[in-house]
Amino acid sequence: MLAIATASLLLASSAFAQSTTSFPEGVVATGTMGTTNPPEPTLGTAINQTSYARLLSVNSIDDWCIFAPPESQVIADSETYEVAWCSQARNDARVIPDGTITGVSLLKTDMYVQIMGYGDLTKINIPAGDWGGELDPHGAYGSGNPIGGNVTTNMTIDGETINVAEWMLYVSYEQFCFRACTWANSTYSAAAMCWHELDEMGCEFVMPGNYNFNGTFETCEADVAYPPGWYVEGVTDGTTSFSSFAQYWTGVVNGVTYTNGDLVTPSTVQSTPSSSNCQTVPTISNGIALASLGVSGAATATGSAATATGTATKSGSSGSSGSTTAESSSSSNAAVPGARVFQAGLSEGITLLSMISAIAAIAIFH
Ligand SMILES: *[C@@H]1O[C@H](CO)[C@@H](O)[C@H](O)[C@H]1NC(C)=O
Ligand SMILES: *[C@@H]1O[C@H](CO)[C@@H](O)[C@H](O)[C@H]1NC(C)=O
Ligand SMILES: *[C@@H]1O[C@H](CO)[C@@H](O)[C@H](O)[C@H]1NC(C)=O
Ligand SMILES: *[C@@H]1O[C@H](CO)[C@@H](O)[C@H](O)[C@H]1NC(C)=O
Ligand SMILES: *[C@@H]1O[C@H](CO)[C@@H](O)[C@H](O)[C@H]1NC(C)=O
Repeated sequence: MLAIATASLLLASSAFAQSTTSFPEGVVATGTMGTTNPPEPTLGTAINQTSYARLLSVNSIDDWCIFAPPESQVIADSETYEVAWCSQARNDARVIPDGTITGVSLLKTDMYVQIMGYGDLTKINIPAGDWGGELDPHGAYGSGNPIGGNVTTNMTIDGETINVAEWMLYVSYEQFCFRACTWANSTYSAAAMCWHELDEMGCEFVMPGNYNFNGTFETCEADVAYPPGWYVEGVTDGTTSFSSFAQYWTGVVNGVTYTNGDLVTPSTVQSTPSSSNCQTVPTISNGIALASLGVSGAATATGSAATATGTATKSGSSGSSGSTTAESSSSSNAAVPGARVFQAGLSEGITLLSMISAIAAIAIFH
């Protein structure tokens, strides 16, 4: 059921919206484009492997982008300034070198597009062993992680390209999952469907689906998942009520202790949506010979292992056992069985702490 919007409403909702579809509130980004981005998504831009463009487009199995560091560095330390890496030359962004990605599953649903991938992401500057972190348009500074990061997709209800207001990316050295929220209704807002505060939970919890696709490149239709962390509580008079899981966080900021969230972390999701009509392609190579252009995919600098430190502590079991703290190393998290834990997802809390200490430092020096 589509409502037809007036031209003025569409202009208010997006500079790029030109169709007659009225997207529900909260779906289309209303702000300006990040300063390092082209004014609109553009295919076939010049290759620039030192670009700082931060515009992702997710359009098809061989036309998508993710964020990764500009130089080799753990995600936790580079969240605010990650750059766009695309499977094609587009958006003035960097090109993902052929051979990086070993499997992709792209899901189109009524409320979001989701892309899951495996590969050797050390080729796009994520250090080996880095369990990565979570990026979204909010971030500690409210202007996105990365700052000025934007996302478009044409996998919308009518094929129109929109700038999405809500998206989330989990990325590690060997896996990523990304969701752009393209629709909403009174049960599920775009913000709920792309909920960005479960940064310690892995792809399979936050973006459930069939993750057994390494080695294949597929595009599928899929049912809509429950929003991340939502569980059905009951149905009364035909209306479903939900409870939701909030990740546990406690920390000391300027001497004040803050505590939030649930002590027990659920080990499973409400349900894993099924997918259908999968179409596979043999490869998503772009054929661009980066080396012959005198550029490589990744910078040569080596990154340090994840070493998040700070006073924040998150706990709760993940999968069948284990708890994590800000002080734990990536290797100890890697040993946690069950759901994959993105240790560096802690960085949002860390970033907040460092921001507050930065503000304190400024105050002292003035
Ligand atoms: C770009 O991203 C920023 C930060 O998330 C957001 O405020 C803005 O609305 C986005 N603009 C577009 C055109 O997507
Ligand atoms: C590549 O991107 C960098 C960073 O945005 C910019 O300084 C440089 O001029 C670009 N190079 C070319 C050839 O456009
Ligand atoms: C979306 O973009 C892809 C790749 O750029 C293109 O193949 C596809 O036709 C586009 N979809 C629509 C509906 O225009
Ligand atoms: C919203 O969409 C979801 C997923 O398709 C559906 O289960 C739910 O019933 C819808 N809610 C309303 C009020 O239409
Ligand atoms: C995916 O497959 C590649 C190639 O077989 C393999 O090297 C890699 O370890 C696999 N990734 C994961 C996360 O299993």
